[in-house]
Amino acid sequence: MSASSERTIAVLGAGGFLGSHLVEGILEKTGHRVIAVDRTLRKLAVRSPRLTLLESALGEPGLLRKVVAESEVVVSMTALCNPALYNTRPVEVIHASFTDLVPLVDLCTSAHRRLVHLSTCEVYGRPPDAEQALSEDSPSVFGPVEKERWTYAAAKLLLERYIYARGRHHGLAYTIVRPFNVIGPRMDFIRGIDGDGTPRVLASFLGALLAGEPLELVDGGQRRRAFLWVGELVEALLRILAEPARCEGQTFNLGNPRNEVTIAELARQLSALFAARQGTARAPARSVPAERFYGEGYDDVEARVPAIEKAKRLLGWEPRRTLEEMLPEIVEDYLARYGERARAARQ
Ligand code: UGA
Repeated sequence: MSASSERTIAVLGAGGFLGSHLVEGILEKTGHRVIAVDRTLRKLAVRSPRLTLLESALGEPGLLRKVVAESEVVVSMTALCNPALYNTRPVEVIHASFTDLVPLVDLCTSAHRRLVHLSTCEVYGRPPDAEQALSEDSPSVFGPVEKERWTYAAAKLLLERYIYARGRHHGLAYTIVRPFNVIGPRMDFIRGIDGDGTPRVLASFLGALLAGEPLELVDGGQRRRAFLWVGELVEALLRILAEPARCEGQTFNLGNPRNEVTIAELARQLSALFAARQGTARAPARSVPAERFYGEGYDDVEARVPAIEKAKRLLGWEPRRTLEEMLPEIVEDYLARYGERARAARQ
């Protein structure tokens, strides 16, 4: 990469699962400088003279203004992205996904900074035909307001609309990304070790395996998800950063339609791998009603498969890593980070 194409990229949410992988990818594969911002940057192990760390909440007075002023591109990845929170902490979810980010969109507009915003596949809500792959222009169908599961989706979709409006009417340069069930090392947290409550399904199952408890299949685990390897998400984001003109005003689905499995199948593969790695018997799985697992107001989508033709066409991107190829590296990562502490907690 030539020096003239080097930029300063601010990554908001750099301490999270996706953010920490993105920062590593930018530093490793490009010459860009990175300003990494998050409340905590514990997951971010990489160090570089091109990396500035800012451990701070977005709401800290003056923070957003300073970060926007010092960067050419802002990647916004902060969110409370976890279905266990949508019906239990909905007000915080709305603020984190919408209210807190409106000032960022405004600042990027007035300061003429490019915004790459990570939205979510949840914006499609609960499509009537779960067998139909979702393309970027598919409609959004949400349940009634009492189904608070869709609080997050509605807030994320409203922010997408706000970004679109700032782009169309006030000249904001932006790209929106909708990730579909990205998994990999460092995802979420393990209950009782570095977090409380229920993380998303991968970390939830790994937490159960580490604790020697049964894996809980919500409503029998027959719902399906298509999983994407985190490294392939980062690859797509690097292409988006490298191609501003081609990606201007675009929204991209990023997911792997070929990796669709039932949640019960994911549980089966993870417990088989874990047992083989530890030399123990396979952990059992048991069905739990959704209302008992998540509480009132939860709702779910039967399946969510991305159509990714636009990303193939505009980014030349096509994910290839199968679930079988991803899971061993993930199990190793969780064992390395939590194995000792989980053993200690079990004694
Ligand atoms: C979540 C977020 O809401 C999305 O914003 C995000 O984009 C998406 O994850 C993602 O990772 O990309 P969802 O796929 O429903 O959506 O989240 P998970 O918590 O990973 O749940 C997947 C399925 O597994 C659901 O049917 C859930 O009920 C089930 N599940 C979860 C279990 O059966 N057992 C568990 O222990 C946890």
